[in-house]
Amino acid sequence: MAKIPEYTIEKIKDSNDIVDLVSSYLPLKKKGANYWARCPFHDEKTASFSVSPSKQIFHCFGCGVGGNVINFVMEYEKLSFIESVKLLAERANIPLDHQEASPREKSDTGKLREMHVRAIEIYHRELFSPNGKKAMEYLNSRGISKQTVQTFKVGFAPDSWDFLVSKLSEDHSTELILKSGLCVQSQKDNRLFDRFRGRIMFPVMDERGNAVGFGGRTLPGGKDDAKYLNSPETPIYNKRRILYGLNVNQEIIRKEKKALVVEGYMDLLQLYQHGFINVVAGSGTAFTGDHARLLRRFADEAVLCYDSDEAGQKAAVRTAFTLASQKLDCRILKLPEGEDPDSYLQNEGADAFFKREANALPMMEFLREYYQPSSMSPRDKAETIAYLLEEIRAFPDPVYRETFAREIATLFSVEESTLLQQLNRRAYRRPASGKAVFSGEKPKHFKNQGEAAEYYLLQLLVNGSVLIRKAGLRYLSPVLFRHAFLRKVLEGVLPVLQKDPGIPAGQIPDRIGDNKIRNFVIQLLIEAQNSLNQETIFVESLRQLELQVLREKYNALTEELKKADPSEVPGIMKKQIENLEARKRLKLLYTPEIFKEIDA
Ligand code: CTP
Ligand code: MN
Repeated sequence: MAKIPEYTIEKIKDSNDIVDLVSSYLPLKKKGANYWARCPFHDEKTASFSVSPSKQIFHCFGCGVGGNVINFVMEYEKLSFIESVKLLAERANIPLDHQEASPREKSDTGKLREMHVRAIEIYHRELFSPNGKKAMEYLNSRGISKQTVQTFKVGFAPDSWDFLVSKLSEDHSTELILKSGLCVQSQKDNRLFDRFRGRIMFPVMDERGNAVGFGGRTLPGGKDDAKYLNSPETPIYNKRRILYGLNVNQEIIRKEKKALVVEGYMDLLQLYQHGFINVVAGSGTAFTGDHARLLRRFADEAVLCYDSDEAGQKAAVRTAFTLASQKLDCRILKLPEGEDPDSYLQNEGADAFFKREANALPMMEFLREYYQPSSMSPRDKAETIAYLLEEIRAFPDPVYRETFAREIATLFSVEESTLLQQLNRRAYRRPASGKAVFSGEKPKHFKNQGEAAEYYLLQLLVNGSVLIRKAGLRYLSPVLFRHAFLRKVLEGVLPVLQKDPGIPAGQIPDRIGDNKIRNFVIQLLIEAQNSLNQETIFVESLRQLELQVLREKYNALTEELKKADPSEVPGIMKKQIENLEARKRLKLLYTPEIFKEIDA
Protein backbone atom coordinates (compact mmCIF):
# COMPACT_ATOMS: atom_id res chain seq x y z
CA MET A 1 0.00 0.00 0.00
CA ALA A 2 1.17 3.46 -0.78
CA LYS A 3 2.24 5.44 2.20
CA ILE A 4 -0.27 8.07 3.25
CA PRO A 5 1.45 11.42 2.71
CA GLU A 6 2.25 13.45 5.78
CA TYR A 7 0.09 16.38 4.68
CA THR A 8 -2.92 14.11 4.28
CA ILE A 9 -2.40 12.79 7.77
CA GLU A 10 -2.18 16.36 9.05
CA LYS A 11 -5.37 17.22 7.23
CA ILE A 12 -7.12 14.21 8.71
CA LYS A 13 -5.98 15.20 12.16
CA ASP A 14 -7.16 18.77 11.63
CA SER A 15 -10.54 17.61 10.40
CA ASN A 16 -11.29 15.55 13.49
CA ASP A 17 -11.81 17.69 16.52
CA ILE A 18 -10.60 15.76 19.53
CA VAL A 19 -13.44 16.82 21.83
CA ASP A 20 -15.90 15.78 19.17
CA LEU A 21 -14.19 12.47 18.61
CA VAL A 22 -13.71 11.53 22.23
CA SER A 23 -17.24 12.48 23.20
CA SER A 24 -18.55 10.08 20.61
CA TYR A 25 -16.98 7.41 22.81
CA LEU A 26 -17.45 8.71 26.31
CA PRO A 27 -19.25 11.52 28.08
CA LEU A 28 -17.02 14.56 28.62
CA LYS A 29 -17.57 17.31 31.14
CA LYS A 30 -16.08 20.73 30.78
CA LYS A 31 -14.13 22.01 33.73
CA GLY A 32 -11.87 24.98 33.27
CA ALA A 33 -10.10 24.98 29.93
CA ASN A 34 -10.29 21.21 29.50
CA TYR A 35 -12.81 18.41 29.29
CA TRP A 36 -12.83 15.53 31.75
CA ALA A 37 -14.07 11.95 31.97
CA ARG A 38 -13.35 8.73 33.72
CA CYS A 39 -10.52 7.12 31.84
CA PRO A 40 -11.62 4.43 29.38
CA PHE A 41 -8.20 2.81 29.56
CA HIS A 42 -8.09 1.93 33.23
CA ASP A 43 -10.53 1.44 36.05
CA GLU A 44 -11.12 4.51 38.11
CA LYS A 45 -13.75 6.18 40.21
CA THR A 46 -12.88 9.80 39.61
CA ALA A 47 -12.27 11.57 36.35
CA SER A 48 -8.58 11.90 35.61
CA PHE A 49 -8.86 11.61 31.86
CA SER A 50 -8.61 15.00 30.28
CA VAL A 51 -8.96 16.45 26.80
CA SER A 52 -7.58 19.80 25.74
CA PRO A 53 -9.51 21.45 22.91
CA SER A 54 -6.90 24.13 22.36
CA LYS A 55 -4.04 21.66 21.98
CA GLN A 56 -6.10 18.85 20.51
CA ILE A 57 -4.65 16.21 22.80
CA PHE A 58 -5.83 13.94 25.56
CA HIS A 59 -4.09 12.70 28.67
CA CYS A 60 -4.94 10.54 31.64
CA PHE A 61 -3.36 11.60 34.92
CA GLY A 62 -4.16 8.19 36.32
CA CYS A 63 -2.54 5.81 33.86
CA GLY A 64 -0.46 8.18 31.79
CA VAL A 65 -1.82 7.46 28.31
CA GLY A 66 -2.16 10.37 26.00
CA GLY A 67 -1.80 11.78 22.53
CA ASN A 68 -3.71 13.17 19.59
CA VAL A 69 -6.84 11.96 17.79
CA ILE A 70 -4.96 9.19 16.04
CA ASN A 71 -3.44 7.93 19.28
CA PHE A 72 -6.88 7.93 20.85
CA VAL A 73 -8.38 5.79 18.11
CA MET A 74 -5.38 3.44 18.18
CA GLU A 75 -5.74 3.03 21.90
CA TYR A 76 -9.51 2.82 22.12
CA GLU A 77 -10.19 0.72 19.06
CA LYS A 78 -6.96 -1.25 19.40
CA LEU A 79 -6.14 -0.51 15.78
CA SER A 80 -2.87 0.03 13.97
CA PHE A 81 -1.76 3.51 12.98
CA ILE A 82 -2.86 3.09 9.37
CA GLU A 83 -6.21 1.64 10.35
CA SER A 84 -6.80 4.51 12.75
CA VAL A 85 -5.93 7.10 10.14
CA LYS A 86 -8.37 5.39 7.79
CA LEU A 87 -11.10 5.44 10.37
CA LEU A 88 -10.57 9.14 10.99
CA ALA A 89 -10.44 9.86 7.27
CA GLU A 90 -13.81 8.21 6.85
CA ARG A 91 -15.16 10.09 9.80
CA ALA A 92 -14.16 13.37 8.21
CA ASN A 93 -15.14 12.34 4.70
CA ILE A 94 -11.63 12.67 3.41
CA PRO A 95 -11.00 10.29 0.53
CA LEU A 96 -7.87 8.20 0.76
CA ASP A 97 -6.87 6.95 -2.62
CA HIS A 98 -5.21 3.78 -1.68
CA GLN A 99 -6.41 0.32 -1.01
CA GLU A 100 -6.91 -1.77 2.07
CA ALA A 101 -4.10 -1.85 4.55
CA SER A 102 -1.81 -4.69 3.58
CA PRO A 103 -1.95 -7.73 5.85
CA ARG A 104 1.31 -6.74 7.44
CA GLU A 105 0.01 -3.31 8.33
CA LYS A 106 -3.12 -4.64 9.90
CA SER A 107 -3.24 -5.03 13.64
CA ASP A 108 -4.34 -8.24 15.27
CA THR A 109 -7.50 -6.42 16.20
CA GLY A 110 -8.26 -5.67 12.58
CA LYS A 111 -7.59 -9.24 11.55
CA LEU A 112 -9.61 -10.72 14.38
CA ARG A 113 -12.57 -8.54 13.57
CA GLU A 114 -12.29 -9.46 9.94
CA MET A 115 -12.24 -13.11 10.90
CA HIS A 116 -15.42 -12.62 12.89
CA VAL A 117 -17.14 -10.81 10.04
CA ARG A 118 -16.29 -13.79 7.90
CA ALA A 119 -17.56 -16.25 10.50
CA ILE A 120 -20.80 -14.32 10.86
CA GLU A 121 -21.37 -14.56 7.12
CA ILE A 122 -20.51 -18.23 7.01
CA TYR A 123 -22.81 -19.14 9.90
CA HIS A 124 -25.58 -16.88 8.63
CA ARG A 125 -25.51 -18.44 5.18
CA GLU A 126 -25.52 -21.89 6.74
CA LEU A 127 -28.73 -21.10 8.62
CA PHE A 128 -30.47 -20.43 5.32
CA SER A 129 -29.04 -23.55 3.67
CA PRO A 130 -30.60 -27.01 3.83
CA ASN A 131 -28.20 -27.85 6.69
CA GLY A 132 -29.73 -25.08 8.73
CA LYS A 133 -33.29 -26.18 8.23
CA LYS A 134 -33.83 -27.58 11.70
CA ALA A 135 -32.28 -24.57 13.35
CA MET A 136 -34.43 -22.22 11.29
CA GLU A 137 -37.52 -24.23 12.16
CA TYR A 138 -36.63 -24.04 15.81
CA LEU A 139 -36.22 -20.26 15.64
CA ASN A 140 -39.56 -20.00 13.87
CA SER A 141 -41.18 -22.21 16.49
CA ARG A 142 -39.98 -19.72 19.06
CA GLY A 143 -41.58 -16.97 17.12
CA ILE A 144 -38.44 -15.44 15.66
CA SER A 145 -39.02 -14.13 12.15
CA LYS A 146 -36.70 -14.24 9.15
CA GLN A 147 -36.52 -10.47 9.29
CA THR A 148 -35.21 -10.54 12.87
CA VAL A 149 -32.76 -13.26 11.97
CA GLN A 150 -31.48 -11.00 9.20
CA THR A 151 -31.26 -7.90 11.35
CA PHE A 152 -29.22 -9.62 14.04
CA LYS A 153 -27.35 -11.84 11.58
CA VAL A 154 -28.27 -14.96 13.51
CA GLY A 155 -26.53 -18.03 12.12
CA PHE A 156 -26.02 -21.73 12.50
CA ALA A 157 -22.89 -23.73 13.26
CA PRO A 158 -23.40 -27.26 11.96
CA ASP A 159 -22.35 -30.24 14.03
CA SER A 160 -18.90 -30.56 12.50
CA TRP A 161 -15.37 -30.40 13.89
CA ASP A 162 -13.87 -28.34 11.14
CA PHE A 163 -16.68 -26.52 9.34
CA LEU A 164 -15.37 -23.10 10.25
CA VAL A 165 -11.68 -23.77 10.82
CA SER A 166 -11.26 -25.25 7.35
CA LYS A 167 -12.45 -21.96 5.88
CA LEU A 168 -10.62 -19.63 8.23
CA SER A 169 -7.28 -21.34 7.82
CA GLU A 170 -7.29 -20.39 4.14
CA ASP A 171 -6.48 -16.82 5.15
CA HIS A 172 -5.30 -16.87 8.72
CA SER A 173 -2.54 -18.35 10.83
CA THR A 174 -3.21 -21.01 13.45
CA GLU A 175 -2.03 -18.63 16.08
CA LEU A 176 -4.51 -15.94 15.14
CA ILE A 177 -7.39 -18.38 14.73
CA LEU A 178 -6.73 -19.59 18.24
CA LYS A 179 -6.66 -16.03 19.49
CA SER A 180 -10.10 -15.42 18.01
CA GLY A 181 -11.68 -17.98 20.33
CA LEU A 182 -13.64 -19.39 17.41
CA CYS A 183 -11.62 -22.58 17.47
CA VAL A 184 -9.97 -24.75 20.07
CA GLN A 185 -6.76 -26.74 19.92
CA SER A 186 -6.80 -30.47 20.53
CA GLN A 187 -4.57 -31.59 23.41
CA LYS A 188 -3.77 -34.80 21.59
CA ASP A 189 -2.53 -33.75 18.19
CA ASN A 190 -2.60 -29.94 18.34
CA ARG A 191 -5.14 -29.78 15.56
CA LEU A 192 -7.68 -26.98 15.58
CA PHE A 193 -11.37 -27.70 15.79
CA ASP A 194 -14.48 -25.56 15.87
CA ARG A 195 -15.58 -24.35 19.28
CA PHE A 196 -19.21 -24.01 18.21
CA ARG A 197 -20.89 -27.13 16.88
CA GLY A 198 -24.56 -27.78 16.34
CA ARG A 199 -25.59 -24.41 17.72
CA ILE A 200 -27.65 -21.40 16.78
CA MET A 201 -25.20 -18.55 16.63
CA PHE A 202 -25.86 -15.06 17.93
CA PRO A 203 -23.13 -12.69 16.74
CA VAL A 204 -22.06 -10.21 19.37
CA MET A 205 -20.97 -6.77 18.25
CA ASP A 206 -19.74 -3.74 20.06
CA GLU A 207 -21.73 -0.53 19.97
CA ARG A 208 -20.06 0.55 16.77
CA GLY A 209 -20.91 -2.65 14.99
CA ASN A 210 -17.52 -4.33 15.17
CA ALA A 211 -17.93 -8.09 15.37
CA VAL A 212 -16.32 -9.36 18.55
CA GLY A 213 -17.74 -12.76 19.51
CA PHE A 214 -20.61 -15.19 19.58
CA GLY A 215 -23.16 -16.74 21.86
CA GLY A 216 -24.18 -20.19 20.69
CA ARG A 217 -27.40 -21.91 21.78
CA THR A 218 -27.98 -25.65 21.53
CA LEU A 219 -30.92 -26.99 19.59
CA PRO A 220 -33.45 -29.06 21.50
CA GLY A 221 -32.53 -32.72 21.34
CA GLY A 222 -28.86 -31.80 20.93
CA LYS A 223 -26.24 -33.28 23.19
CA ASP A 224 -26.83 -32.17 26.73
CA ASP A 225 -24.08 -29.58 26.77
CA ALA A 226 -24.63 -26.23 28.38
CA LYS A 227 -27.56 -24.44 26.75
CA TYR A 228 -25.32 -21.52 25.89
CA LEU A 229 -21.69 -21.53 24.92
CA ASN A 230 -20.05 -18.13 24.58
CA SER A 231 -16.87 -16.91 22.98
CA PRO A 232 -14.10 -16.59 25.54
CA GLU A 233 -12.54 -13.24 26.35
CA THR A 234 -10.21 -12.36 23.48
CA PRO A 235 -8.20 -9.33 22.49
CA ILE A 236 -11.35 -7.98 20.82
CA TYR A 237 -13.99 -9.28 23.22
CA ASN A 238 -14.18 -7.81 26.67
CA LYS A 239 -17.50 -9.05 27.98
CA ARG A 240 -17.68 -6.48 30.70
CA ARG A 241 -17.91 -3.80 28.07
CA ILE A 242 -20.24 -5.23 25.48
CA LEU A 243 -23.98 -4.87 25.49
CA TYR A 244 -25.75 -7.16 23.08
CA GLY A 245 -28.07 -5.24 20.76
CA LEU A 246 -26.55 -1.83 21.30
CA ASN A 247 -25.16 -1.66 17.77
CA VAL A 248 -28.67 -2.05 16.35
CA ASN A 249 -30.68 -0.18 18.95
CA GLN A 250 -28.55 2.75 19.98
CA GLU A 251 -30.27 5.36 17.84
CA ILE A 252 -33.65 4.86 19.44
CA ILE A 253 -32.10 4.56 22.89
CA ARG A 254 -30.35 7.83 22.42
CA LYS A 255 -33.55 9.44 21.22
CA GLU A 256 -35.74 8.10 23.99
CA LYS A 257 -32.95 8.39 26.56
CA LYS A 258 -34.25 5.11 27.88
CA ALA A 259 -33.27 1.47 27.48
CA LEU A 260 -34.82 -1.83 28.42
CA VAL A 261 -32.29 -4.18 29.95
CA VAL A 262 -32.85 -7.93 29.69
CA GLU A 263 -30.84 -11.02 30.44
CA GLY A 264 -30.99 -13.10 27.30
CA TYR A 265 -30.48 -13.15 23.57
CA MET A 266 -33.92 -14.65 23.03
CA ASP A 267 -35.56 -12.05 25.26
CA LEU A 268 -33.95 -9.31 23.29
CA LEU A 269 -34.95 -10.66 19.90
CA GLN A 270 -38.51 -11.19 21.03
CA LEU A 271 -38.81 -7.68 22.44
CA TYR A 272 -37.32 -6.25 19.32
CA GLN A 273 -39.84 -8.08 17.22
CA HIS A 274 -42.68 -6.77 19.27
CA GLY A 275 -41.61 -3.21 18.66
CA PHE A 276 -39.58 -2.65 21.83
CA ILE A 277 -36.46 -1.77 19.97
CA ASN A 278 -34.74 0.15 22.74
CA VAL A 279 -33.47 -3.01 24.35
CA VAL A 280 -30.00 -4.32 25.31
CA ALA A 281 -28.71 -7.43 27.08
CA GLY A 282 -25.54 -8.35 28.87
CA SER A 283 -23.88 -11.01 26.74
CA GLY A 284 -23.39 -14.06 28.86
CA THR A 285 -22.06 -12.23 31.93
CA ALA A 286 -23.50 -10.34 34.85
CA PHE A 287 -24.17 -6.67 34.33
CA THR A 288 -21.07 -4.70 35.25
CA GLY A 289 -20.20 -1.12 36.06
CA ASP A 290 -18.61 -0.91 32.63
CA HIS A 291 -21.89 -1.97 31.07
CA ALA A 292 -23.66 0.75 33.02
CA ARG A 293 -21.13 3.36 31.96
CA LEU A 294 -21.54 2.31 28.36
CA LEU A 295 -25.30 2.55 28.59
CA ARG A 296 -25.05 5.91 30.33
CA ARG A 297 -23.64 7.33 27.12
CA PHE A 298 -26.97 6.74 25.46
CA ALA A 299 -29.62 6.76 28.14
CA ASP A 300 -30.70 8.49 31.34
CA GLU A 301 -33.04 5.75 32.37
CA ALA A 302 -33.00 1.95 32.36
CA VAL A 303 -35.95 -0.36 32.81
CA LEU A 304 -34.83 -3.72 34.06
CA CYS A 305 -36.73 -6.71 32.87
CA TYR A 306 -35.26 -9.90 34.24
CA ASP A 307 -36.71 -13.36 34.72
CA SER A 308 -39.36 -13.52 37.42
CA ASP A 309 -37.64 -16.38 39.25
CA GLU A 310 -35.60 -15.85 42.40
CA ALA A 311 -32.29 -15.82 40.55
CA GLY A 312 -33.60 -13.25 38.10
CA GLN A 313 -34.92 -10.96 40.81
CA LYS A 314 -31.75 -11.19 42.82
CA ALA A 315 -29.80 -10.27 39.72
CA ALA A 316 -32.20 -7.37 39.20
CA VAL A 317 -31.36 -5.96 42.64
CA ARG A 318 -27.66 -6.06 41.92
CA THR A 319 -28.05 -4.64 38.44
CA ALA A 320 -30.25 -1.84 39.74
CA PHE A 321 -27.45 -0.75 42.07
CA THR A 322 -24.88 -1.07 39.32
CA LEU A 323 -26.99 1.18 37.11
CA ALA A 324 -27.61 3.64 39.92
CA SER A 325 -23.91 3.82 40.66
CA GLN A 326 -23.48 5.35 37.20
CA LYS A 327 -26.41 7.68 37.73
CA LEU A 328 -28.88 5.92 35.54
CA ASP A 329 -32.41 6.19 36.86
CA CYS A 330 -33.67 2.72 37.18
CA ARG A 331 -37.08 1.08 37.28
CA ILE A 332 -37.87 -2.60 37.49
CA LEU A 333 -40.52 -4.29 35.41
CA LYS A 334 -42.05 -7.30 37.09
CA LEU A 335 -43.39 -10.28 35.20
CA PRO A 336 -45.75 -12.96 36.52
CA GLU A 337 -44.36 -16.14 38.08
CA GLY A 338 -42.47 -18.36 35.72
CA GLU A 339 -42.20 -15.87 32.89
CA ASP A 340 -39.32 -14.22 31.15
CA PRO A 341 -39.79 -11.37 28.67
CA ASP A 342 -39.69 -13.79 25.77
CA SER A 343 -42.41 -16.10 27.09
CA TYR A 344 -44.50 -13.22 28.37
CA LEU A 345 -44.59 -11.49 25.02
CA GLN A 346 -45.53 -14.69 23.26
CA ASN A 347 -48.27 -15.44 25.75
CA GLU A 348 -49.66 -11.99 26.40
CA GLY A 349 -48.55 -9.79 23.54
CA ALA A 350 -47.07 -6.34 23.14
CA ASP A 351 -49.91 -4.34 24.71
CA ALA A 352 -49.74 -6.26 27.96
CA PHE A 353 -46.00 -5.76 28.06
CA PHE A 354 -46.39 -2.08 27.34
CA LYS A 355 -48.67 -1.72 30.37
CA ARG A 356 -46.21 -3.56 32.55
CA GLU A 357 -43.49 -1.27 31.36
CA ALA A 358 -45.52 1.80 32.20
CA ASN A 359 -46.00 0.39 35.68
CA ALA A 360 -42.39 -0.58 36.22
CA LEU A 361 -41.44 0.19 39.82
CA PRO A 362 -38.94 2.82 40.86
CA MET A 363 -35.97 1.22 42.53
CA MET A 364 -36.92 1.82 46.15
CA GLU A 365 -40.44 0.57 45.63
CA PHE A 366 -39.11 -2.51 43.96
CA LEU A 367 -36.80 -3.10 46.91
CA ARG A 368 -39.75 -2.69 49.28
CA GLU A 369 -41.70 -5.29 47.37
CA TYR A 370 -38.75 -7.61 47.07
CA TYR A 371 -37.55 -7.49 50.67
CA GLN A 372 -40.85 -6.75 52.45
CA PRO A 373 -38.99 -5.02 55.27
CA SER A 374 -42.08 -4.67 57.46
CA SER A 375 -42.16 -8.40 58.03
CA MET A 376 -38.42 -8.99 58.28
CA SER A 377 -36.71 -10.39 61.34
CA PRO A 378 -34.13 -8.07 62.92
CA ARG A 379 -31.37 -10.39 61.85
CA ASP A 380 -32.47 -10.50 58.21
CA LYS A 381 -32.89 -6.78 58.29
CA ALA A 382 -29.37 -6.25 59.57
CA GLU A 383 -27.91 -8.60 56.99
CA THR A 384 -29.83 -7.09 54.14
CA ILE A 385 -28.89 -3.57 55.11
CA ALA A 386 -25.25 -4.59 55.37
CA TYR A 387 -25.42 -6.01 51.86
CA LEU A 388 -27.14 -2.93 50.45
CA LEU A 389 -24.62 -0.63 52.08
CA GLU A 390 -21.90 -2.65 50.45
CA GLU A 391 -23.49 -1.92 47.08
CA ILE A 392 -23.80 1.77 47.87
CA ARG A 393 -20.24 2.03 49.03
CA ALA A 394 -19.18 1.40 45.44
CA PHE A 395 -20.96 4.54 44.20
CA PRO A 396 -18.35 7.00 43.05
CA ASP A 397 -20.44 10.07 43.90
CA PRO A 398 -20.63 10.68 47.66
CA VAL A 399 -23.89 12.59 47.26
CA TYR A 400 -25.46 9.57 45.60
CA ARG A 401 -24.04 7.38 48.32
CA GLU A 402 -25.61 9.43 51.02
CA THR A 403 -28.93 9.91 49.27
CA PHE A 404 -29.33 6.18 48.76
CA ALA A 405 -28.29 5.43 52.32
CA ARG A 406 -31.02 7.78 53.54
CA GLU A 407 -33.62 6.16 51.32
CA ILE A 408 -32.65 2.73 52.54
CA ALA A 409 -32.91 3.94 56.11
CA THR A 410 -36.46 5.04 55.41
CA LEU A 411 -37.23 1.79 53.64
CA PHE A 412 -36.16 -0.33 56.59
CA SER A 413 -37.35 2.14 59.22
CA VAL A 414 -34.00 2.66 60.88
CA GLU A 415 -32.44 5.94 61.91
CA GLU A 416 -30.59 7.63 59.08
CA SER A 417 -27.72 8.41 61.38
CA THR A 418 -27.24 4.73 62.18
CA LEU A 419 -26.93 3.87 58.53
CA LEU A 420 -24.71 6.78 57.68
CA GLN A 421 -22.45 5.79 60.52
CA GLN A 422 -22.28 2.26 59.27
CA LEU A 423 -21.75 3.47 55.73
CA ASN A 424 -18.77 5.53 56.75
CA ARG A 425 -17.34 3.11 59.24
CA ARG A 426 -15.86 0.90 56.61
CA ALA A 427 -15.64 3.73 54.20
CA TYR A 428 -14.25 3.00 50.83
CA ARG A 429 -10.54 3.55 51.02
CA ARG A 430 -8.65 4.89 48.11
CA PRO A 431 -5.75 2.82 46.97
CA ALA A 432 -2.50 4.35 48.18
CA SER A 433 -1.41 6.97 45.69
CA GLY A 434 1.63 6.24 43.57
CA LYS A 435 5.06 7.12 44.78
CA ALA A 436 6.75 7.62 41.48
CA VAL A 437 6.44 11.31 41.04
CA PHE A 438 7.40 11.83 37.46
CA SER A 439 6.56 8.61 35.71
CA GLY A 440 3.28 9.82 34.39
CA GLU A 441 1.58 10.32 37.68
CA LYS A 442 0.49 13.58 39.18
CA PRO A 443 3.54 15.77 39.42
CA LYS A 444 2.63 17.71 42.48
CA HIS A 445 4.97 16.35 45.10
CA PHE A 446 8.27 17.96 44.40
CA LYS A 447 11.17 16.92 46.53
CA ASN A 448 12.64 20.40 46.55
CA GLN A 449 12.54 23.75 44.81
CA GLY A 450 15.04 22.67 42.21
CA GLU A 451 12.86 19.84 41.08
CA ALA A 452 9.84 22.12 40.90
CA ALA A 453 11.86 24.55 38.83
CA GLU A 454 12.86 21.84 36.38
CA TYR A 455 9.25 20.87 36.03
CA TYR A 456 7.99 24.40 35.41
CA LEU A 457 10.73 25.14 32.94
CA LEU A 458 9.76 22.11 30.91
CA GLN A 459 6.19 23.18 31.04
CA LEU A 460 7.08 26.64 29.82
CA LEU A 461 9.24 25.23 27.07
CA VAL A 462 6.50 23.13 25.54
CA ASN A 463 3.66 25.47 26.25
CA GLY A 464 5.26 28.89 26.20
CA SER A 465 5.59 31.61 23.62
CA VAL A 466 8.24 31.51 20.95
CA LEU A 467 10.18 34.02 22.97
CA ILE A 468 10.19 31.76 26.00
CA ARG A 469 11.20 28.79 23.93
CA LYS A 470 14.08 30.66 22.37
CA ALA A 471 15.24 31.75 25.79
CA GLY A 472 14.98 28.13 26.84
CA LEU A 473 17.09 27.04 23.90
CA ARG A 474 19.74 29.52 24.91
CA TYR A 475 19.77 29.06 28.69
CA LEU A 476 18.68 25.52 29.38
CA SER A 477 20.90 22.54 29.20
CA PRO A 478 20.42 18.99 30.43
CA VAL A 479 23.45 19.28 32.70
CA LEU A 480 21.52 21.79 34.79
CA PHE A 481 18.81 19.28 35.55
CA ARG A 482 19.17 17.06 38.58
CA HIS A 483 16.10 14.89 38.20
CA ALA A 484 17.08 12.02 35.93
CA PHE A 485 13.74 11.65 34.21
CA LEU A 486 13.12 15.37 33.79
CA ARG A 487 16.58 15.64 32.29
CA LYS A 488 15.59 13.02 29.73
CA VAL A 489 12.45 14.94 28.95
CA LEU A 490 14.49 18.06 28.34
CA GLU A 491 16.80 16.08 26.09
CA GLY A 492 13.76 14.94 24.17
CA VAL A 493 12.17 18.36 23.84
CA LEU A 494 15.14 20.58 23.03
CA PRO A 495 15.90 19.11 19.59
CA VAL A 496 12.25 19.44 18.59
CA LEU A 497 12.26 23.13 19.46
CA GLN A 498 15.63 23.67 17.87
CA LYS A 499 14.17 22.55 14.59
CA ASP A 500 11.05 24.65 14.90
CA PRO A 501 10.66 26.97 17.87
CA GLY A 502 7.22 27.98 16.61
CA ILE A 503 5.78 24.47 16.49
CA PRO A 504 2.21 24.35 17.84
CA ALA A 505 2.33 22.90 21.32
CA GLY A 506 -0.08 20.08 20.50
CA GLN A 507 2.29 18.78 17.83
CA ILE A 508 5.34 18.40 20.02
CA PRO A 509 4.38 14.96 21.33
CA ASP A 510 4.23 13.63 17.78
CA ARG A 511 7.91 14.46 17.35
CA ILE A 512 9.00 12.50 20.37
CA GLY A 513 9.81 8.85 19.91
CA ASP A 514 10.14 7.67 23.48
CA ASN A 515 6.73 6.76 24.80
CA LYS A 516 7.33 7.70 28.40
CA ILE A 517 8.75 11.07 27.50
CA ARG A 518 5.99 11.67 25.01
CA ASN A 519 3.27 10.93 27.57
CA PHE A 520 4.94 13.16 30.06
CA VAL A 521 5.06 16.03 27.59
CA ILE A 522 1.36 15.55 26.95
CA GLN A 523 0.76 15.76 30.65
CA LEU A 524 2.70 19.01 30.78
CA LEU A 525 0.61 20.39 27.96
CA ILE A 526 -2.69 19.45 29.51
CA GLU A 527 -1.69 20.85 32.87
CA ALA A 528 -0.32 24.10 31.60
CA GLN A 529 -2.12 27.27 32.51
CA ASN A 530 -1.60 30.01 30.01
CA SER A 531 -0.24 32.24 32.67
CA LEU A 532 0.51 35.83 31.86
CA ASN A 533 3.77 36.00 33.74
CA GLN A 534 5.56 33.28 31.83
CA GLU A 535 8.68 35.36 31.68
CA THR A 536 8.88 35.90 35.40
CA ILE A 537 8.34 32.24 36.10
CA PHE A 538 10.99 31.40 33.57
CA VAL A 539 13.70 33.55 35.11
CA GLU A 540 12.75 32.58 38.66
CA SER A 541 12.98 28.92 37.77
CA LEU A 542 16.19 29.37 35.90
CA ARG A 543 17.66 31.05 38.96
CA GLN A 544 16.53 28.13 41.08
CA LEU A 545 18.42 25.79 38.79
CA GLU A 546 21.60 27.79 38.98
CA LEU A 547 21.13 28.05 42.70
CA GLN A 548 20.85 24.31 42.85
CA VAL A 549 24.13 23.91 41.03
CA LEU A 550 25.87 26.44 43.25
CA ARG A 551 24.56 24.77 46.39
CA GLU A 552 25.91 21.45 45.24
CA LYS A 553 29.29 23.02 44.63
CA TYR A 554 29.23 24.59 48.04
CA ASN A 555 28.44 21.29 49.70
CA ALA A 556 31.21 19.60 47.78
CA LEU A 557 33.59 22.26 49.06
CA THR A 558 32.48 21.61 52.61
CA GLU A 559 33.29 17.94 52.13
CA GLU A 560 36.66 18.91 50.77
CA LEU A 561 37.25 21.05 53.84
CA LYS A 562 36.79 18.07 56.10
CA LYS A 563 39.57 16.14 54.44
CA ALA A 564 41.75 19.07 53.50
CA ASP A 565 45.31 19.76 54.49
CA PRO A 566 45.52 22.88 56.72
CA SER A 567 47.38 24.65 53.96
CA GLU A 568 44.51 24.16 51.54
CA VAL A 569 41.81 25.47 53.89
CA PRO A 570 42.01 29.20 53.05
CA GLY A 571 41.73 28.48 49.34
CA ILE A 572 38.66 26.35 49.77
CA MET A 573 37.05 28.88 52.06
CA LYS A 574 37.64 31.60 49.55
CA LYS A 575 35.85 29.54 46.96
CA GLN A 576 32.96 29.15 49.33
CA ILE A 577 32.68 32.86 49.82
CA GLU A 578 32.75 33.38 46.09
CA ASN A 579 30.04 30.79 45.82
CA LEU A 580 27.84 32.71 48.23
CA GLU A 581 28.43 35.91 46.31
CA ALA A 582 27.60 34.23 43.06
CA ARG A 583 24.32 33.18 44.53
CA LYS A 584 23.50 36.78 45.36
CA ARG A 585 24.42 37.87 41.87
CA LEU A 586 21.97 35.42 40.38
CA LYS A 587 19.18 37.80 41.32
CA LEU A 588 20.69 40.46 39.11
CA LEU A 589 21.71 38.07 36.39
CA TYR A 590 18.38 36.48 35.76
CA THR A 591 15.71 39.10 35.33
CA PRO A 592 13.12 39.54 32.62
CA GLU A 593 15.76 41.76 30.99
CA ILE A 594 17.26 38.64 29.43
CA PHE A 595 14.36 38.49 27.00
CA LYS A 596 15.42 41.78 25.44
CA GLU A 597 18.43 40.11 23.87
CA ILE A 598 16.35 37.40 22.26
CA ASP A 599 14.60 38.15 19.03
CA ALA A 600 11.35 36.32 18.81
N1 CTP B 1 -26.34 -17.68 29.50
C1 CTP B 1 -25.08 -18.17 29.30
N2 CTP B 1 -24.75 -19.46 29.55
C2 CTP B 1 -25.70 -20.31 30.01
C3 CTP B 1 -26.98 -19.84 30.25
C4 CTP B 1 -27.28 -18.51 29.98
O1 CTP B 1 -24.24 -17.42 28.86
N3 CTP B 1 -25.35 -21.56 30.24
C5 CTP B 1 -26.62 -16.27 29.21
C6 CTP B 1 -27.02 -16.08 27.78
O2 CTP B 1 -26.53 -14.83 27.36
C7 CTP B 1 -28.51 -16.07 27.85
C8 CTP B 1 -28.76 -15.39 29.17
O3 CTP B 1 -27.71 -15.83 29.99
O4 CTP B 1 -29.10 -15.38 26.77
C9 CTP B 1 -30.08 -15.70 29.81
O5 CTP B 1 -30.22 -17.08 30.01
P1 CTP B 1 -31.59 -17.79 29.71
O6 CTP B 1 -32.71 -16.94 30.22
O7 CTP B 1 -31.46 -19.17 30.23
O8 CTP B 1 -31.55 -17.83 28.14
P2 CTP B 1 -32.49 -17.23 27.03
O9 CTP B 1 -31.73 -16.24 26.23
O10 CTP B 1 -33.76 -16.77 27.62
O11 CTP B 1 -32.68 -18.45 26.07
P3 CTP B 1 -33.88 -19.46 25.97
O12 CTP B 1 -35.14 -18.64 26.12
O13 CTP B 1 -33.71 -20.04 24.65
O14 CTP B 1 -33.72 -20.46 27.07
MN1 MN C 1 -35.65 -17.54 27.86
